[in-house]
Amino acid sequence: MQRAARPHCERTGVVNCDLRMGKSFDIGLQQLTRREAGARPDVSFAGPLAARGTFFLETFGCQMNDHDSEKVAGVLLSRGYRQVETPEAASLILYNTCSIREKAAQKVFSRLGEYREKQKDGKIIGVLGCVAQQEGEDIFERAPWVSLVCGSASYRKLPEMLAELEAGNHRVTGLDTDTDETFETEMTRRDNPWRAYLTIIEGCDKACSYCVVPYTRGPERSRSSEAILREVHQLAALGYSEVQLLGQTVNSYRDPRPRGMRFSELLLAVADVPGIRRVRFTTSHPSDFGQDIVAAIESEPKLCDHVHLPVQSGSTKVLQAMQRTYSREEYLEKVDMIRSAKRPIALTTDIIVGFPGETEADFEETLSLLEDAQYDSLFSFKYSPRPNTPSLSMNDSIPEEEKSRRLAVLQDKQREIQRVRNLALTGETVEVLVSGKSRRENQWAGYTTSHRLVNFTSQAHELLGTYVHVRVTDATPNSLLGEHAV
Ligand code: 5AD
Ligand code: SF4
Repeated sequence: MQRAARPHCERTGVVNCDLRMGKSFDIGLQQLTRREAGARPDVSFAGPLAARGTFFLETFGCQMNDHDSEKVAGVLLSRGYRQVETPEAASLILYNTCSIREKAAQKVFSRLGEYREKQKDGKIIGVLGCVAQQEGEDIFERAPWVSLVCGSASYRKLPEMLAELEAGNHRVTGLDTDTDETFETEMTRRDNPWRAYLTIIEGCDKACSYCVVPYTRGPERSRSSEAILREVHQLAALGYSEVQLLGQTVNSYRDPRPRGMRFSELLLAVADVPGIRRVRFTTSHPSDFGQDIVAAIESEPKLCDHVHLPVQSGSTKVLQAMQRTYSREEYLEKVDMIRSAKRPIALTTDIIVGFPGETEADFEETLSLLEDAQYDSLFSFKYSPRPNTPSLSMNDSIPEEEKSRRLAVLQDKQREIQRVRNLALTGETVEVLVSGKSRRENQWAGYTTSHRLVNFTSQAHELLGTYVHVRVTDATPNSLLGEHAV
């Protein structure tokens, strides 16, 4: 699956330094017939055993989108499609889109323009994800060469939609968000050989005034803890040792009856699955973040030392305008809770600068919050007005240059905080899950439980996928440097 530049590239920290190593994937499904590129879809190809040809899937956006793409790929593979590396080699081109900020959404249409020629070769083109949901059938008007428009809340209907496409239908849509169902699939094609992503809650019931997600991903729906734990057992059996539980507000998880597990209980149950060594979860909403989560982390070392807790702004006035449901003080209480844990827990956040009405004094409050919270990393964004959001009716009052200035000031400040925090780890020994090998000899990389990137030297021949101890010898704002401690 090709990955596009993430919106998270504005991150002051590290995580977009992608060390994922591709693992070949073969589900052993026979392709009985292959549709030649250039041929139109033919009804005679329909049916469960028919060969569906090849697909190319490009993904933009957040981890949820990445994981949705893994599930979509799983559905296609189980229907007999084969995944290919280039759009040229594919009979079906799918584009999983992001509309969280305007720039991301604009990219979609320029990329669709590039695909226009390809449709003339008989390829089927589909738009998935948030832009699909946002723009709906208008996409057919703007890009008539597109045959499928499907938002994430409708992925569970993908098999039927694929059948329609295979039957030659050129206008197939899945745009329903009014659902209480989740996207369960027998097959997920996972791209990371060691860390498995796992959605536990879809959609969002919060109503942050700047955010398209409640509109594009629909209402909050939690999967049952039975289904989640069954999947974790399967993942462990497949050799995954790290799982990351995903949700837009992952800690708002509400297990459907009869079991009714709390989120913190689910975390402990996942950590208890034999073979699992690390459990991550993202993204937490401050209002639903309680002491029980910190207590769970304290009691179970397999729960990673990391909480991602987006604050968005340090000014209570701006938080109110954003409809974030907490004040600066209430947020800082959660920070205290995390910072007073029995073992250190890394804390990261998201911040938006230049929200409508954000004064210089409000921005200064965000800067002072960075001092108070001492984040280990952050993602920062310039406010971007989005369709169908409450803040669209507010005057986007901060000029672009001023937003850029605030972003740069914020990032400089955070870089310095990270430099100091990372340097303080010099001399310590950390455990690293090795996920990358540099072209330079004896250079390896991986992540700590606190999700710090570590570049280190080792004479070992093969370390990928193993947990090793590394002595930290130096640090930059974005990574630790070290040597294998044997
Ligand atoms: N403009 C800028 N940033 C946004 N985010 C969400 N919506 C917008 C928007 N309209 C940011 C928030 C969120 C992260 C995923 O993206 O910080 O936490
Ligand atoms: Fe968007 Fe707010 Fe929901 Fe996060 S909690 S997905 S920012 S509406």
